Amino acid sequence: MKIAVLKETAAGETRVAATPETVKKLASLGASLAVETSAGAASSISDADYVEAGAEVGPATVVVKDADLVMGVQAPDVAALAGAKPGAWVAATFDPFGQRERVDAYAKAGLEALAMEFMPRITRAQSMDVLSSQSNLAGYKAVIAAADQYGRAFPMMMTAAGTISAAKVFVMGVGVAGLQAIATAKRLGAQVSATDVRPETAEQIKSLGGKPVFAEGLEASGEGGYAAELTEEQKAAQAEMVSAHIAKQDIVITTALIPGRAAPRLVSDAQIATMKHGSVIFDLAVAQGGNVEGSVADQVVEKHGVHIMGFSNTPAHLAADASALFSRNLFNFLSAFWDKEANKPVLDEEIGDAIRLTKGGEVVNARLKG
Ligand code: NAI
Repeated sequence: MKIAVLKETAAGETRVAATPETVKKLASLGASLAVETSAGAASSISDADYVEAGAEVGPATVVVKDADLVMGVQAPDVAALAGAKPGAWVAATFDPFGQRERVDAYAKAGLEALAMEFMPRITRAQSMDVLSSQSNLAGYKAVIAAADQYGRAFPMMMTAAGTISAAKVFVMGVGVAGLQAIATAKRLGAQVSATDVRPETAEQIKSLGGKPVFAEGLEASGEGGYAAELTEEQKAAQAEMVSAHIAKQDIVITTALIPGRAAPRLVSDAQIATMKHGSVIFDLAVAQGGNVEGSVADQVVEKHGVHIMGFSNTPAHLAADASALFSRNLFNFLSAFWDKEANKPVLDEEIGDAIRLTKGGEVVNARLKG
């Protein structure tokens, strides 16, 4: 089985879908690996490192030729896959709701698209879950970037020249990224509070040393451990809670997402206007429509003296670690299903049906059909 790894082409994408470590591990399963020249450069991995790990390194056309499986961080355009075996698999993130045309193009080309972000949130798939691994790093980076933007220190400091008070950090949305944001802000010495619409997160916030701040009766748990959209009444209750809390905060990190929908709006311009000058808001959902009014991807926008920021691709700002974890997720996925006799992975229904977008010329995924 030939596995191809292409250099990512999306703007600002610094990650790569295989590292020398996973190349070695995949080769030991029996696969042959081909990696595009300089695919790992932005993740501090040289071509020589891949060669040493046992991969063939060369131009894209040679790498893709006769590939059974192409691995990507972001799915390549179909045009880049010309020459791959008919029906070849492509394991990558597809943004299936946002980039539906690309999914249709994969179907038309007869490719089998495997969307890693559709990996079910079940215990046995945790090690294959790219959303978790990348969100975890994103939650960390959001706090670091906000701390860097903030013109003050995070920890309380008692100095001969007087005391500096601890920064107050408010994390909105306590999924994987939010939990890491709480932990990181605590480690930096901030006073942390956090909110969500799933009540079970209150205990998780406390266990990390944060203070839960919840609007009364606000519960919107959806399927699969995700949140559901709030009703208008619930939105009003949440807005009231945020208005009361946010004016006292120095840093706000928002991470709220609802699968398949635009990110919920959590912070309005009027609420930003109540914050202190020099406060920082990091909108981790900026690429999905944004939780914060006025946030613009990859820019620091100043409104009412508050700096609003967010990256279009936060994990790409930690390229080496993000690539290491992403590529291990892919390896864990492929190795879990590797069939020695067939010398390739054979997927089961639970995971295969969840992540497979296209097969045999059709879009086959239930989430895209229904
Ligand atoms: P996500 O990225 O979809 O959303 C981030 C957070 O925003 C969530 O906690 C969500 O409840 C919250 N949110 C949505 N709308 C909100 C609103 N209006 N106001 C405030 N907060 C709002 O979530 P993520 O990080 O993907 O985690 C989703 C769930 O999956 C969690 O329960 C997590 O523990 C679980 N999970 C399970 C895994 C497994 O068992 N394999 C792996 C990873 C996550």
